[in-house]
Amino acid sequence: MSHPSLSVLTTHNKTARAISGEKFSVSWKSPSNIALVKYWGKKENQIPLNPSLSMTLSQSYTLTRVTAITDREEKKLKVNADAGHPFIPKMELFLQYIEKEVPILKELSFNVETTNSFPHSTGIASSASGFSAFALCLLSIAEMVSGKNIASGEFFNLASFVSRMGSGSACRSLYGGYSLWGKTDHVQGSSGLFAVPIAKKVHPIFRNLHDAILVISSEPKSLPSTKGHALMDHHPFASARIIQAENNLSETLKALDSGDIERLISVTENEALTLHALIMSSKGGTVLLKPPTVNVILRIREARRKGMPVFFSLDAGPNVHLFYPEKSALEVEQFIRDELVSSCENGLVIFDCCGTGPVLQEI
Ligand code: PMV
Repeated sequence: MSHPSLSVLTTHNKTARAISGEKFSVSWKSPSNIALVKYWGKKENQIPLNPSLSMTLSQSYTLTRVTAITDREEKKLKVNADAGHPFIPKMELFLQYIEKEVPILKELSFNVETTNSFPHSTGIASSASGFSAFALCLLSIAEMVSGKNIASGEFFNLASFVSRMGSGSACRSLYGGYSLWGKTDHVQGSSGLFAVPIAKKVHPIFRNLHDAILVISSEPKSLPSTKGHALMDHHPFASARIIQAENNLSETLKALDSGDIERLISVTENEALTLHALIMSSKGGTVLLKPPTVNVILRIREARRKGMPVFFSLDAGPNVHLFYPEKSALEVEQFIRDELVSSCENGLVIFDCCGTGPVLQEI
């Protein structure tokens, strides 16, 4: 299914500036996100099996510059000036998809300069920040070449729609605060095709929620996303999971709206542990948690029993996202140094918090 705004970009108008040899360049900074309600399992056309909800990060982002040159010769894609860069196969597939939707991009060769603000394999989704940044750049280039502009709100909706095809979770990175992706009766206008922002329905105490990413291991992912989602295709608990995710989503929305941290803690940790329970109970199931992951989780729960407002999430890996409100930052960061850093690989902790979404960079 196509997006209505794509038709605006499909043809040149009289002011189109695509003259052979002309260069177009744009740069976007786009953040990663961490899901509180997890997307796990998908249908055809990158439609999620269940709705998910994430917090957009601030310090963990990808900075991408795309320079396009009109060139009717063989199409080229280079990443950081390297035509053999390991990201190229995934980016090429994504480019093929977007070029079908926006044919004017077919006339261009691309050089993509991209850097992440965070180290590789740290449990921060580089595909979310990377594909959202790349999609934003390509759409900005399409605007320049076609000489047409899409209104700002529509532009981000379109970027969300398009990024989803690169990586599902990327479609949630287009908005600051919190985003929801997937059709649900709990949110009007929600869709499996793009994410929607839910910032207006978030209590001030969660608008600057902190997330310390405790890097237990920086080994590359042993379960790539595509394989992971496929585990849900014949999972014995799939239908129960879909019902649970809907209920957890409703709980999360109520907790975020009312500022009820106890409610948010309970549902966020349930989602994190459910993700791993689903992974472990899949056919040929695998264990992604490491002994220090479990140790850290138990210490977080112990600290909470003693009154500290801390809770955790996990992605499909061993690293732990530790959440805490801004007002408790001093106390929690001391707890991290005293009790958790020793469980982290080389003591690595990345301090992040809720962010404001992608930013177009000055030329
Ligand atoms: O966007 P993908 O295909 O990398 O999948 C992300 C899946 C999880 O990170 C485990 C959960 C989520 O909702 O981000």
